[in-house]
Amino acid sequence: MQKDEIKIGFVTVSDRASRGEYEDLGGPAMQAWISDALSNEWTAVARVIADEQDLIEATLKELADEHQCGLILTTGGTGPAKRDVTPEATEAVCDKILDGFAEQMRAVSLKYVPTAILSRQIAGTRGASLIINLPGKPSAIGECLEAVFPAVPYCVDLIDGPYLETNESFVKAFRPKHAIKKG
Ligand code: MTE
Repeated sequence: MQKDEIKIGFVTVSDRASRGEYEDLGGPAMQAWISDALSNEWTAVARVIADEQDLIEATLKELADEHQCGLILTTGGTGPAKRDVTPEATEAVCDKILDGFAEQMRAVSLKYVPTAILSRQIAGTRGASLIINLPGKPSAIGECLEAVFPAVPYCVDLIDGPYLETNESFVKAFRPKHAIKKG
């Protein structure tokens, strides 16, 4: 990896999308949202995988440890169905779980749909990567990211990840004054 290169990981977890039975809409929706949100140059590392816990864990490790993605977003597999295991895989690979992300995402999501409480989505850190689970429905992606993204750049600073900057007309990041880099 080139020094200072910012990589963002996008993981679509879906049996059917991974088999090509339907188009992956979640991955492109996450990438589009991040394109609007970040003013830095960044590159995407994208994967579409089945709802298999071992595979999800291996993919998250690859994106965090080998590609050193500062931020990794997952979509899908957060509900109560038998094959939904994304939160279990995320918890297994994280060093720390950040409960506030899930609390905020579900609280805001409830304003859109009563079924928001069905998502078991979590967020946590692995080394210098922040991992955030999003539900599989493409519209849920923006609803959830909007709810937590103001805290994402400073969180990534605190784990020694890349310095993320946002397009303030789209989403305004909050950093304590001492953490703001000038110029
Ligand atoms: N959150 C938001 N913001 N918007 C939504 O439409 N859908 C819910 C919930 N969270 C939804 C949402 C539904 S219907 C389900 S089943 C759960 O997310 C889990 O979805 P997943 O299994 O695709 O991850």
